[in-house]
Amino acid sequence: MKVAVIPGDGIGVDVTVEAVKVLRRAGEVFGRSIEIEMLPWNADHYLKTGITMPADGYTMLRQFDAVFIGALGDPRVPDNRHARDILLGTRFELDLYVNYRPVQLLDDRLCPLKGRKTADVNFIVFRENTEGLYVGVGGRFKAGTEDEIAVQEEINTYKGVERIIRHAFEFAHAHGRRKVCMADKSNAMAEGHALWQRVFKEVAQQHPDIQSRHVYIDALALLMVQDPSQFDVIVTNNMFGDIITDLGAALQGGLGVAPSGNLHPGRTSMFEPVHGSAPPLAGRNVANPIGAILSTALMLDYAGFEREAAAIETAVRESVATGHTTTDIGGSLGTRETGDHIAQLIVSELKHHAN
Ligand SMILES: NC(=O)c1ccc[n+]([C@@H]2O[C@H](COP(=O)([O-])OP(=O)(O)OC[C@H]3O[C@@H](n4cnc5c(N)ncnc54)[C@H](O)[C@@H]3O)[C@@H](O)[C@H]2O)c1
Repeated sequence: MKVAVIPGDGIGVDVTVEAVKVLRRAGEVFGRSIEIEMLPWNADHYLKTGITMPADGYTMLRQFDAVFIGALGDPRVPDNRHARDILLGTRFELDLYVNYRPVQLLDDRLCPLKGRKTADVNFIVFRENTEGLYVGVGGRFKAGTEDEIAVQEEINTYKGVERIIRHAFEFAHAHGRRKVCMADKSNAMAEGHALWQRVFKEVAQQHPDIQSRHVYIDALALLMVQDPSQFDVIVTNNMFGDIITDLGAALQGGLGVAPSGNLHPGRTSMFEPVHGSAPPLAGRNVANPIGAILSTALMLDYAGFEREAAAIETAVRESVATGHTTTDIGGSLGTRETGDHIAQLIVSELKHHAN
C-alpha cells in the first residue's frame, strides 16, 4: 500500500508523527508492506516558495492508494490560501464526495452527557463534500464600504445530492445499520433543499428495508444532545455536516478523538482527523493523536485491511480505558507517549493472535 502523507501545520505535524508510527507498526505486526511518502506542503513551504502545491500536485496524489493529511491552517497566512489548495483542493480535484465521519464513543467516561454509554453514541455522519457553500461561487461588491454586498452561493446538483444519499443507504445495508436520517433546512431554503427532499424520497423508496427519516438541521442539533442513541446513519450537506460533526466530536470526548475519511469509492481517498491545526498547542507534545490514529484505521479498513484496522481500534480503546491518553481526555501522557503506548499495544495484539 502506498500512502502520501501531508503533516501540514501546527498540531497536524505532531499528531501525524504518531499516526505514521502506529501505521508502520500495524504494517510490521501483520506483515503488510506500507510505503509512506512524506509531502512537505504546508504554510512554511508556501511562505518560503510562494507555492501552495506543485502544478501537478493532484496528479501526484492520484498515484497513491491513499492520502493522509494532519491539519492545515496557520495565522501567518491569514487567508489560508495554502489550506484551500491542499485540503479543499484535494477534496474537489479528487472528487472525494463522501465525507465519512463516524461518531463513536470510545469509553463511557468520555461522554459529556449524563448517564450515556458507548452504545448510546454510535452513528455515522455522511457529509456531502464537493458542493454546497464550499465551492467558492460568489463575490463582494463595494468591498470595505458601508454599501458592501457579500454573496456566497450554495450549489446543490442532482448528481451531487444523489450520490451522497445513495452512499448513506448503501453503507447502511453493507454494515447492518437500520436507519438513515437526512437533515436539511428545506423549510427556510425552499429551492436548494427541495432537491434534497426529492432525492431522499427517491433513494429511500429503493431501500424499503431501511427506515428513512427527515429532520431539520436545527432539530438534529437538539436531538443529538437529548438522545444520540436514536441515530444510526445521518446524511447532510457540506456546511451542516461540518458543524454537526463538531457537535458529534463533543459527544465522543472532544475534537482530539474524532477521525474522518474523504472518499470516492474505488479511487484514491484521503483520511484526516476532524480537528484543525490548533496553533496554540503546536509543538508542545500536548495534542491528542487519537483522531489521527483512528483515521489511519479508517484508511486501512477502506483499503481492505480489516484486521489491521481493528487492531488499531482495539489498541486505542484499551489505551483510553486505562487512561493512557493526553490531558484533554483526562490522561497525563504527552502526544508522543500516547502514540508509543498505542503502537506497543498493537504488538501485544500479535501476541494475542499467536496465543
Ligand atoms: N481539516 C483541517 O485541516 C482544519 C479543520 C478545522 C480548522 N482548521 C484550521 O485550523 C486552525 C485553527 O482552527 P480552530 O482553532 O477553529 O480549530 P482546531 O480544531 O484547531 O481547535 C479547536 C479547539 O479544539 C482543541 N483541539 C483541536 N484538536 C485537538 C487535539 N488533537 N488535541 C487536543 N485539543 C485539540 C483546540 O485546542 C481548540 O481549543 C485554523 O487555521 C482553521 O482554519 C483546519
